[in-house]
Amino acid sequence: MSAQAPDPFGGAPERLATTAPPVPDAVQPLVQVRDLVKHFPITRGIIFQRKIGAVRAVDGVSFDVRRGETLGIVGETGCGKSTTAKLIMRLQKPTSGQVRFEGQDITDLRGADMKAIRREMQMIFQDPYSSLNPRKTVGSIIGEPYAIHGLKREKGERKRAVQELMETVGLNPEHYNRYPHEFSGGQRQRIGVARALALRPKLLIADEPVSALDVSIQAQVLNLLRDMQRRFGLTLIFIAHDLSVVRHMCDRVAVMYLGKIVETGSGDDLYAFPRHPYTGALLSAVPVADPSHHGSERRLLSGDVPSPANPPKACRFHTRCPKAQELCSRQQPQLEDKGSGTLTACHFPLSREEVAAIGVRSAG
Ligand SMILES: Nc1ncnc2c1ncn2[C@@H]1O[C@H](COP(=O)(O)OP(=O)(O)OP(=O)(O)O)[C@@H](O)[C@H]1O
Ligand code: SF4
Ligand SMILES: [Mg+2]
Repeated sequence: MSAQAPDPFGGAPERLATTAPPVPDAVQPLVQVRDLVKHFPITRGIIFQRKIGAVRAVDGVSFDVRRGETLGIVGETGCGKSTTAKLIMRLQKPTSGQVRFEGQDITDLRGADMKAIRREMQMIFQDPYSSLNPRKTVGSIIGEPYAIHGLKREKGERKRAVQELMETVGLNPEHYNRYPHEFSGGQRQRIGVARALALRPKLLIADEPVSALDVSIQAQVLNLLRDMQRRFGLTLIFIAHDLSVVRHMCDRVAVMYLGKIVETGSGDDLYAFPRHPYTGALLSAVPVADPSHHGSERRLLSGDVPSPANPPKACRFHTRCPKAQELCSRQQPQLEDKGSGTLTACHFPLSREEVAAIGVRSAG
């Protein structure tokens, strides 16, 4: 976003300038992401590596996360959800763009300054099997953040804090000395949540926290996250493949396609009247004829997601979009208010009649 461009996410662009006057906590979003880009170079050659292209994992993403809200980031595999999360957490460095946390630009922070910010943001991962060290006891896994940050150094104090956390997330504190393999998938994800909460972060990013779990367990983990959010006043970014998973979790939703946000808005607006054909397809209740799509993958979408190393020009969805016209492959649509609450990047957004025709799944 250029310095002069209107900023649909947070008012005037000047708010992001370093010289701007301080904004009160209550109105300042916890996280501000502006024009975030992450390109992974594709190289060839053994001794002299030449760059022959780039995977455009995240390609110009902007959004705000307000204090205390849950923002859902949704899209098909490879669209850049995890990379966006890692850029916010500064587990990866962006190619360009900016991440602000509590108004502070953290894009280039290092050393002690970055370590201090890391205490405020934590992440839980998709796979509760590989994200926990099998050789460590649950007690030391949950207490790890204390060790890293030199907190609760006294052994008894640390144990008490960890056992309290175990109780908070519904684990038996007497299992402090057990190993991850002695726990079920749902319990392991509770261990991950306890570890993430140890430092009382302000921001929690949950990257597909239930997709590796049995359906019967998923609701329990989602309820736990919701409880924790209320109890600790957390701000939550919740990443999922499927809009139905985030429906009851999220205040606002951002739909990503091939490294870009194609639609964003409040859950109420987005589910009631999706304007982007991709959002419509994700929400469609119409079963698709293709037998390779099954279960919850009820999609109007045909064809595979194009490679992010060579994304389609202009509107990246035009190769799969039932509404595509010549303009769509020539001019990139901008995220704009189309008069129904959401911001949508589409030249020919869905009408109410079209939404009714594709049978958007009702809430419930
Ligand atoms: N370290 C890396 N090096 C090269 N390419 C990468 C790297 N990390 C991610 N990518 C590529 O960037 C794109 C986006 O990946 P990302 O993991 O962010 O997607 P995702 O939306 O989280 O997908 P999923 O739903 O499968 O988790 C993919 O094409 C992926 O292969
Ligand atoms: S801009 Fe065109 S191709 Fe892209 S989503 Fe809209 S109608 Fe479809
Ligand atoms: Mg991912």
